[in-house]
Amino acid sequence: MRRGLLLFLLLNVAIILFLVNSVWTLLTLLVVDGSEDAISKAELPAPGSDLIDDRPQLIPKIIHQTYKNTSIPPVWQEAQTSCLNLHPAPQWEYKLWTDEKSMQFIEAEYPWFLDTFRGYQYPIQRADSIRYFVLAHYGGVYIDFDDGCNRALEPLLSYPAFVRRTMPTGISNDVMGAVPQHPFFMRVIEEIQNYDKSWIMPYITVMASTGPLFLSIIWRRYTAAGLNFGDGADGGRVRILFPDEYNNYSWSFFIHHLGNSWHGKDVQLIFWMARNWVLLTIIGFTVGFSVIFSCWWAYHRFVLASRPAPEWKVATIRQRLPFWRRVSAQKEYELVRRHEV
Ligand SMILES: *[C@@H]1O[C@H](CO)[C@@H](O)[C@H](O)[C@H]1NC(C)=O
Repeated sequence: MRRGLLLFLLLNVAIILFLVNSVWTLLTLLVVDGSEDAISKAELPAPGSDLIDDRPQLIPKIIHQTYKNTSIPPVWQEAQTSCLNLHPAPQWEYKLWTDEKSMQFIEAEYPWFLDTFRGYQYPIQRADSIRYFVLAHYGGVYIDFDDGCNRALEPLLSYPAFVRRTMPTGISNDVMGAVPQHPFFMRVIEEIQNYDKSWIMPYITVMASTGPLFLSIIWRRYTAAGLNFGDGADGGRVRILFPDEYNNYSWSFFIHHLGNSWHGKDVQLIFWMARNWVLLTIIGFTVGFSVIFSCWWAYHRFVLASRPAPEWKVATIRQRLPFWRRVSAQKEYELVRRHEV
């Protein structure tokens, strides 16, 4: 009986440790906010300041965007034009990654990734992954069509790599910049095949295989491994733009134009879950403890009870009966005793 209890507790501890271990990176994402890598407003020259020209510019002047073909829908043309006007040729190069061009690029430069790239179930996974590959390859700045440009990007070119923070947790892949072969993006493209898994819900599958969740997990592992240092041209540090720096109108580099167009029912569910995470955590713990308690109860009821108890243990077992059984057992004894009298 003591051994049974010990085994039971050890098993529970092992299960809990296993679960915590498998979601550890996700848990740390809730705590680590990247503020030590924040690009603060104090570092950024004011729009139009002379300082902009004095800082070394590491990231090449290339803007990358993606769409399935070259006919950009009118709703996104405004955002596209705002970026093109602020970053004119010939100083800046503009690369639009259509489906066809993306496929040719992967085929030519990263043939080991071609099968995974072709095999992605959702087109957005190709749109997500191509941006990491072109940044790792050419360097430059990737900008989603959801985002328009609000001021010239030159001040951000002084960091070897930058991404944007998302709330409540992690980093986003909608705007990213890097020098070519930056160690963070090299790691992202090295790892991406390992994350090509289906998670039943399309939104989770996309988020975790190629989207912001995937990127955040790689980022978290990268910073935890101590690789996040070095601000020079060959540095590995990834700097973070916080909403304060990108939501304030005159200072911000980008303005949000449109919500993501591919969001479905499951996204509403996830957003609902994010809003109600306290409730869900309580439910989770309640369910968890109920399961543990039920196992314990079943173990007693069926495993221990089915063993023939030795004579001297009968009394102990009876004491362990629920109180309503104990009462009825007591009555029987009284009857027996009365008969004997
Ligand atoms: C792009 O795709 C849209 C719809 O899928 C189509 O109507 C349009 O003709 C395509 N444009 C080009 C240049 O192929």
